[in-house]
Amino acid sequence: MDLGIKGRRYLVGGGSRGLGGAVARALAQEGAAVAVTARASAELDASAAAINGIAIGADLSTADGPADAVRRAAGSLGGLDGLVVNTGGPPAGTFAELDEATWARAINGTLQSSLRLIRAALPLLRDGRDPSILVILSSSVREPIAGLMTSNVLRPGLAGLIKGLVDEIAPIRINGIAPGRFDTERVRSLDIGRAERAGTSVESVQAAMRARIPLGRYGDPDELGRVAAFLLSPAASYVDGVIIGVDGGLIRSLP
Ligand SMILES: NC(=O)c1ccc[n+]([C@@H]2O[C@H](COP(=O)([O-])OP(=O)(O)OC[C@H]3O[C@@H](n4cnc5c(N)ncnc54)[C@H](OP(=O)(O)O)[C@@H]3O)[C@@H](O)[C@H]2O)c1
Repeated sequence: MDLGIKGRRYLVGGGSRGLGGAVARALAQEGAAVAVTARASAELDASAAAINGIAIGADLSTADGPADAVRRAAGSLGGLDGLVVNTGGPPAGTFAELDEATWARAINGTLQSSLRLIRAALPLLRDGRDPSILVILSSSVREPIAGLMTSNVLRPGLAGLIKGLVDEIAPIRINGIAPGRFDTERVRSLDIGRAERAGTSVESVQAAMRARIPLGRYGDPDELGRVAAFLLSPAASYVDGVIIGVDGGLIRSLP
């Protein structure tokens, strides 16, 4: 199937590695022009270079970072047809462990960065071709994750944003992906934290998690990248306002 994104222009948040890096690769493989943004680093430059893309160094947790990233990406790409709303995950912890400053960091990093990216991109997307937005969420939109209270609170808010925006921004499409457990730096550090807290090994934490996943393994980020490229593309032209779980069957909730 031809996704129809050859020559289309996308900005991918958190694009220096992990899930964002995989989305950028999938888009580029289909012939799209891609700008990746994360905090400036050699890793970001390498991620962009690997796909003949553009590296945009920006801190998405700051007030001006998201708009700056969008402006520079659109300037380099000559416009914008799609946006991937994604950045580093919020700090881990139970409710009892999270203080005011940590909540503020989580709200800025996860919620505000998303609002700011979308707000900055909308005027450009209105001039784009088959424009669409994809928000990377978490399985916490369907089932709370133990020890990740910031995600349990903030991700459902972003799910509400997706549904709420469908009417307001049409014909720009907006969808979400709810990842389960992918083998990325973020998940490795969460697993290490869980092991330390439980006084057990990382291997046993990972084995317990794998046992909960019907497909019996963590996902490869490229498996999410392909779903993302489809949702962003004109091939998904009648898919709007949905949140697709990409989780190897982990979440059993309906729908
Ligand atoms: N992996 C999973 O299984 C999974 C499951 C559920 C939800 N998620 C969510 O999906 C998102 C991506 O996860 P991941 O596993 O790909 O994480 P990751 O491997 O840690 O990658 C995060 C990306 O975001 C960038 N980033 C972090 N803080 C940033 C900031 N302040 N400004 C700009 N860029 C920033 C990172 O680059 P720099 O740090 O260099 O800036 C990197 O490119 C996270 O929000 C995570 O919570 C992931």
